Amino acid sequence: MNDVMIKNIKSLILPKKSDKPLKGKEMDELKIVDDAVIVVKDGKVVYAGEKTDEYEASEVIDAEGKIASPALVEPHTHVVHGGSREHEMSLKRQGVDYLKILEQGGGILNTVEQTRKAAFDELLEKASVNITRMIQHGVLTVESKSGYGLDKENELKQLKVSKALEEKFPITMRHTYLGPHAIPKGREAGEFMEEMIELLDDAKEYADFADVFTETGVFSVEESRKYMEAAREKGFRVKIHADEIDPLGGLELAIEQKAVSADHLVAASEEGKKQLADSDTVAVLLPGTTFYLGKNEFADARGMIEGGGAVSLATDYNPGSCVTDNLQMIMAIAALKLKMTPNEIWNAVTVNAAHAIDAADRGTLEAGDDANIVIWDAPNHEYIPYHYGVNHAYKVIADGKLLYE
Ligand code: NIG
Ligand code: FE
Repeated sequence: MNDVMIKNIKSLILPKKSDKPLKGKEMDELKIVDDAVIVVKDGKVVYAGEKTDEYEASEVIDAEGKIASPALVEPHTHVVHGGSREHEMSLKRQGVDYLKILEQGGGILNTVEQTRKAAFDELLEKASVNITRMIQHGVLTVESKSGYGLDKENELKQLKVSKALEEKFPITMRHTYLGPHAIPKGREAGEFMEEMIELLDDAKEYADFADVFTETGVFSVEESRKYMEAAREKGFRVKIHADEIDPLGGLELAIEQKAVSADHLVAASEEGKKQLADSDTVAVLLPGTTFYLGKNEFADARGMIEGGGAVSLATDYNPGSCVTDNLQMIMAIAALKLKMTPNEIWNAVTVNAAHAIDAADRGTLEAGDDANIVIWDAPNHEYIPYHYGVNHAYKVIADGKLLYE
């Protein structure tokens, strides 16, 4: 006898499970089974597909004729932080740009101050509100970065909060050390980078990945390479905030360093995009950030996909450059501004997002996968990016148990 049967599913969205991220044309392939059921035992999928009488279960969850998919995977957030930065909106309105605010000691450095002041419990409480909202919006796998400590005590505090979130909620997380996220006032980049490299040993206890912000006025490609090499030697897989504003060659560096993902890529070079196709690095695009920074040039998702690359999507939730916990909103921006197809978008927030954080047991519903499922109050899968700004998640099921409705 199985534990749970999810019945009465109008259509079931089934991204293809694969050892590697879906690339190029494959990203536009998405299996959709009408009139479906899902059978779960011990928190794992036993069967997901066409309706059948073959299985019995002690409990039934009624999908009420709505559509279902694997729970979404959120591969890039800065969810653990102190304070907020709503005052930056008026600065932006006056034309002060993101890097200028940072250069003046605001932006990321403002959040660093507020995060250093906040106690562990305060950070945990605050991030719990965001995680709860992410779950309510259909996300059960979350990557979370440090980067608002910029010293040993506070970087580790952030990573420990991130770990505590995973204990507290029925979600899977990946934790990322992002020591080189900004340069504290009065410090020099190269010398500060050395300090962040030294912290890799301490971060290793808590973090799966090491990340760096490679950007004009922050860390150069050379400094970032040194960091990534050191991190890889210590057994980290690496990630990078690359080519967000200026085209520095961050994508090429990511590929050279076999990064699990290269994120942002708004200004990525043609050469970098070409190399993406021959790599296993996933391009994590963050169009909510471009939107929130008030820019009009979005990452070239079409070029990356048509060139044969693997693309994923994330909110980049953080208190400055993208303040939303709603990945569905990002699906809409991806449709409108990245010109991605509905199938590409669904693959980008499930299977490819899972690959972008080395969590390949998430984002698909093959037999043996974790039974993380969302029932959506929508007539079909195209409807979710179409009707934007609201929450379509109707029931969220974690490891076969109804978590939210
Ligand atoms: O991914 N670009 C660098 N880091 C974050 C923003 C952090 C912040 O502004 O607090 C990002 O956009
Ligand atoms: Fe980010």
